[in-house]
This record gives sequence, C-alpha cells and structure tokens, in this order.
Amino acid sequence: MIKENNDGEFDFENRIVAPEVIKQDSPDEVDYSLRPKTLSEYIGQDKVKENLKIYIEAAKRRGEPLDHVLLYGPPGLGKTTLSGIIAHEMGVNLRITSGPAIEKPGDLAALLTGLETGDVLFIDEIHRLSRAVEEVLYPALEDFALDIIMGKGAQARSIRIDLNHFTLVGATTRAGQLTSPLRDRFGVIHRLELYTHEQLCDIILRSAVILSIACDTDGAMELAKRSRGTPRIANRLLKRVRDFAEVMGNGRVTKEIAQIALDRMEVDALGLDTMDKRMLTMIIKGYGGGPVGLETLAAAIGEEAITLEDVCEPYLMQLGFLSRTPRGRCATEAAYRHLGFEKKDCGGQMSLL
Ligand code: ADE
Repeated sequence: MIKENNDGEFDFENRIVAPEVIKQDSPDEVDYSLRPKTLSEYIGQDKVKENLKIYIEAAKRRGEPLDHVLLYGPPGLGKTTLSGIIAHEMGVNLRITSGPAIEKPGDLAALLTGLETGDVLFIDEIHRLSRAVEEVLYPALEDFALDIIMGKGAQARSIRIDLNHFTLVGATTRAGQLTSPLRDRFGVIHRLELYTHEQLCDIILRSAVILSIACDTDGAMELAKRSRGTPRIANRLLKRVRDFAEVMGNGRVTKEIAQIALDRMEVDALGLDTMDKRMLTMIIKGYGGGPVGLETLAAAIGEEAITLEDVCEPYLMQLGFLSRTPRGRCATEAAYRHLGFEKKDCGGQMSLL
C-alpha cells in the first residue's frame, strides 16, 4: 500500500505497484517457488523464449557454452528468472551479482576465476559497472582471459590468466546507457516487453496453485488488469488480495474481493496508484496539460526525476496517458478522461492537488 513517510512524502519502498523488489516482498516473490525453472513453464515473452530455445539446443548439441546474452526492458519482467532458466536448461551453475556490487576489478576477477565451464554469470544492472571493471570484462567475454598487471612503473608486467568458458547474462533497464564495446560483446540481445492481461492472468493462476490460494479466473483477471503488465506486481497483489479474501470472505479470490481489496489499496482499475495520479494531475492542473520538463515536474511533486522516469512513465506511456515531447511531458486526452478532468479544466496555473 502507498504510505507516506514522516515528511509527508511517498514511501517508495512500500509502493504496492513498484516494479522493483520492495521490502515487504516475501522470499517467494524475490525468488524461489513462484519462479518458473524451465522455458516451458515460463509464460509470455514468446519471441525471446522461442529464440532462446533454439540457441540453448544448438549450444548443447555442439557441447559448447551458450553465447553471452543481454536482456533489457522495464523492471519486474523476468530478467533474473530467465537467467535461472538458461542455467537450468543448460545444466550448469548460476552465479548472480549486480553492477553496483562489483566495486573493483579484483571483485570481478574473483567471480570469474570461480566459474566452472559453461556456468552462467548473471549481472543485473550491468549499465552500472564502473569503467575500470568493464575493461576487465572485455577480454573475459571475448577471449575467456584475465589480463592482470603485476608491479608498477618500469617493472610492470601483464600476465594473462585463462578462464573457463562461461556465459554472461547481462540485464539492464537502460540499454541506452551501455557502452558500445560492452553491448557489442553480446551475441544474443533481447528486449522484454510488458505482459498482456491474459498472460498475467495465467501467471496469477499458476502462482495461486503453487501458493495454495483458491482463485477464480475472474479474480485473477481483475488482478491482471491492475498489475501494470508486470508479473512481480501481479504476484505481490495476489498475496495481498489473499489477505482480504481470508479476512473478509471465505478465502477465495473472487472478482469482487479483488476489486474491494485493490480499491482499498488505492490501485485503480488500470493499475494506477496515487503517485501516478499525482504526477498526471500536476501536469494537468499545475501546467495546463504540459509540456512540462521532467525535472520541474519531479520538483513540483517532491520526487526524484529518475524515479518518475523509470517507475511511472513506462506504464503511463504504454496506456497512452503520457507523451514525451522535446519540450517536456504532456498528459493526453485519455489521461484527462481517466482522471475525470475536462480539457477546459486546465488553466495552466498551479492549483491545490
Ligand atoms: N512468475 C513470474 N513470472 C512468470 C512467468 N513469466 N511465467 C510463469 N510464472 C511466472
């Protein structure tokens, strides 16, 4: 549920429709039981799945490790899950880390020298690797070797350490921020898309079986429609709605219970929460519908620009509620209609929200 912290600002860490992992997520959501382990169990992302299936089969037939894979797209769509599936289907170990966690070249060297032949190394947020670490990665990806500099000045010598052939799976929400030498070293590059309501409904019904939650198809569809195209949000909402079903009903997640619960959590029929609405309302009532620069907008509602850009905007744009123009963000007619404003409402001046 959206909560405000003591300063009256939104508490992002508790936003029920946050696509990232949040504090209240239990381990099943972060990992483990709800995550499909094979490609055939994985719902959605059909193009990615079909292609990976071929590449995995071909690599296995040749007895070679899979080529390096880059997965990009909004958070919560299953990049980590896919890396686990790749490792499982190839029959190898998975090591998981992230760009910010690899602070020094030595940290990466330690990870790489610990990999066995064929192992999958998953680096989340790979766009956040430092330049020094990235330089160590290049020969590792291309030649499966580490170049270590020993000594200093005139005495300095470079020695090469051979690595086992491994597969890097890199994940990023910001493909545009990858340097081209790094991007060029991936043989397989796929973008993950937001899921359809039908796919999310299937994911929710699958999770309900795993978690022993009685759930109607109608109930699952209601949740799916409010999950912003994101399985992580769908699974989180399912667990919260189960609480309502147990306390207010007979434990079954029906359409009615889902509607009541989600309304109570202030997640509307399209999955917008109070923060999305504040953002759109500010554009409409504070800036006459836009255009308004992202930084200005962020300051006006007291949020970080990067948060609005990564967390709110992808879904608002997918709904056709927000457009990005060179002069700033604009609310669309559809946004006006959804929030119950008439176009003439916008006077272009600030008003109380
Ligand atoms: N749980 C989370 N994401 C999933 C997916 N894509 N398919 C099946 N179950 C999931």
